[in-house]
Amino acid sequence: MAALFPLHPLPPPGADRGDVTWQRVAASIVAARSAGSGPLCAYVYDLETARRQAQAIRATLPSGWSLFYAVKANAHPDVLAALSGEVDGFEVASLGEMQSAISASPHVSTIFSGPGKTDADIDGALRRGVQLLNVESLHELRRIALIAERLGARAPVALRVNRRSPPELGFHRMAGPSAQFGLDEALLPDAVELARGYPSIDLLGFHLHAFSNNTDATAHARFLADCLAWSVTTAERHRLVLRVVDCGGGIGVNYVAGESPFDLKQFGAEIAGITGPPDTMLVLELGRYMVAQAGWYAAEVLDVRSTHGRHFAVLRGGMHHFRLPSAWRHDHPFLVVPVDDWPYPFSRPEARNVPIDVVGELCTPRDVFARSTYVETLRAGDVVVFPLAGAYGWEISHRDFLQHPHPKFLILPASSNAEPTKGLGPVTRGSADL
Ligand SMILES: Cc1ncc(COP(=O)(O)O)c(C=O)c1O
Repeated sequence: MAALFPLHPLPPPGADRGDVTWQRVAASIVAARSAGSGPLCAYVYDLETARRQAQAIRATLPSGWSLFYAVKANAHPDVLAALSGEVDGFEVASLGEMQSAISASPHVSTIFSGPGKTDADIDGALRRGVQLLNVESLHELRRIALIAERLGARAPVALRVNRRSPPELGFHRMAGPSAQFGLDEALLPDAVELARGYPSIDLLGFHLHAFSNNTDATAHARFLADCLAWSVTTAERHRLVLRVVDCGGGIGVNYVAGESPFDLKQFGAEIAGITGPPDTMLVLELGRYMVAQAGWYAAEVLDVRSTHGRHFAVLRGGMHHFRLPSAWRHDHPFLVVPVDDWPYPFSRPEARNVPIDVVGELCTPRDVFARSTYVETLRAGDVVVFPLAGAYGWEISHRDFLQHPHPKFLILPASSNAEPTKGLGPVTRGSADL
């Protein structure tokens, strides 16, 4: 086994020289490749990284704040089980996610969101003891009231409000004129009056999730302070006892090398003074920032070729497994685990010291992980590994398009039980983009 060659100009998080987690990831890939029959394609998840990240976030939160994990980011049963001991509950957006949450942790608290809830969703969530239902419209509120009444229950609800002046933060905007989520703020008086008229509705407060992938810690803390101030004023105006302010998720990850990451320490300093009225639960429901760093997507190089003077590495995998880079149209950072075995009696396709496009196995020109990224060496049979694949990787991918086999899922053994890493050379830094 030769050295590990990172290919991206800057090593992605978890890939620095001597990084213990990366060494464990690479060792698990080598072991899985030797044990398997066909070319390797796998997600690798590290539960310790996920747990550590949850603990680090929790340590920054002042009292009064609850930390929920947004299951949509990564619903692998082992990830849910690992996080269930670190968070106050799970945010779910379907009955399927609710069932996964309960399977991982039978008494877990759940918050149920989603722009299009069916009657069956509402009924199922109430029967399963949901802690908070985020309401998206007057019609949904009426249906919740009716279903709760039939069940003899009182539905705990928060109104999801699309505010007049939503923050301009993050990569994905989920509030404002172009977003389909939540009640228009202008409808708030109607919604509060409607809720008051139903004995089966317990109106607890507001839900204000507004964006995803914000990497500015100061701006995020300001957003939370603003959510709280708005909720307190709005509750006073409507003579509501404010018991919940759910600020949603949205803390982000920099996928592009060279950009600065979310500064958790700074966030902790800024959020320290942000507390609500007594007995008001303040909620963060984080997905991406909790698990992005806990996952890697590994795919073996099937072929290396040149067309019209451009170099391509074709992987046994693609956007049907890991759609994030093509969906966001960024060049995802990657590393390579070199594999010296070569089973064929003819020469091995390779690229050396060239910019290369790393692409998937699908019949679509959109199946691209990274374009024109400089590689020292990349050969058919090597394994390309994409870090920061733990959030919105497998979960958002159209996995059955073209009916290729699904990837394997490898869970790293606890580091105290890990085998010493054999046959792996030191991680070295790559060269700059051409
Ligand atoms: C209602 C709600 N809460 C939380 C999240 C998690 O967001 P993020 O992964 O950006 O933290 C989402 C993501 O879309 C969401 O829709």
